[in-house]
Amino acid sequence: MDDIDQYGVIGHPVAHSRSPFIHGLFAKQTGQRIAYRLYDVPPEEFVPRVTGFFEGGGRGLNVTVPHKQAAASCAQVLTPRATQARAVNTLKMEADGTLLGDNTDGVGLARDLTRNLGIVVAGLKVLILGAGGATRGIVGPLLDLAPGALTIANRTAERARVVAASFADLGPVKGCGFHEIDAQPWDLVINATAASLAGGRPDVTPAIIGANTICYDLAYGQAATPFLSWALAEGAAGAHLGWGMLVEQAAESFHLWRGVRPETRPVLEVLRG
Ligand code: ATR
Repeated sequence: MDDIDQYGVIGHPVAHSRSPFIHGLFAKQTGQRIAYRLYDVPPEEFVPRVTGFFEGGGRGLNVTVPHKQAAASCAQVLTPRATQARAVNTLKMEADGTLLGDNTDGVGLARDLTRNLGIVVAGLKVLILGAGGATRGIVGPLLDLAPGALTIANRTAERARVVAASFADLGPVKGCGFHEIDAQPWDLVINATAASLAGGRPDVTPAIIGANTICYDLAYGQAATPFLSWALAEGAAGAHLGWGMLVEQAAESFHLWRGVRPETRPVLEVLRG
């Protein structure tokens, strides 16, 4: 390996990833000399490829679908937020040779909501749709923002109850099925289901959307997801794609690796443009 510090994103598939572009802009902006590459690795090759990357002098990896749980098992030490999420999206080789696993997804969402979108989450009634890995990553950092109530609703109710129970010591969190959602307008509704990826939307009652409801989809793309289009048609006050979360989680990883925090706004403007 050459003497430029090596980073990358490992996933499967990963060709669509915007991470090399984002980290390239961060590096330019902060004057850091790094290489950042895409690694398309199937699940059965994940452990040997990660081991090989770090044995070869690699400094850090972002980890994406479907490897976030495997990365949590690979890391020697987990940050508290990665332990909570039971998933790792950032691996860092420490100077002493320890492989650290972190999860920057939730803090990325929290920063996008609070700093970029100017939403004061404290006291709000927050509804998360979905109870998979994406939800696990965001519940802890959302509870840190002190919402008045946080409900996790899932197509499979039992899964939502299990996830909620595992965060119950951190704040007022409940789990339920879609049909049990309190049919009143919520302040903030976050779609963390995988439905957008398949071109669908979670089948929830329009009663959850009111004139002051802000909706957020963890998915991102050039057009609104079916969930956001539906929410706007039902009269939501705002509808946001996950671009800001993507850039903010990347900035947090970059900060962990390089000790410098890049400006996210200019990068977000380029991506959204
Ligand atoms: P991720 O890591 O993206 O969260 P996951 O762990 O496989 O992926 O979880 C996918 C989530 O999306 C689950 O909450 C799933 O609901 P179920 O637990 O009932 O399967 C949800 N999901 C996927 N497709 C959906 C759809 N069309 N409508 C509603 N929820 C959906």
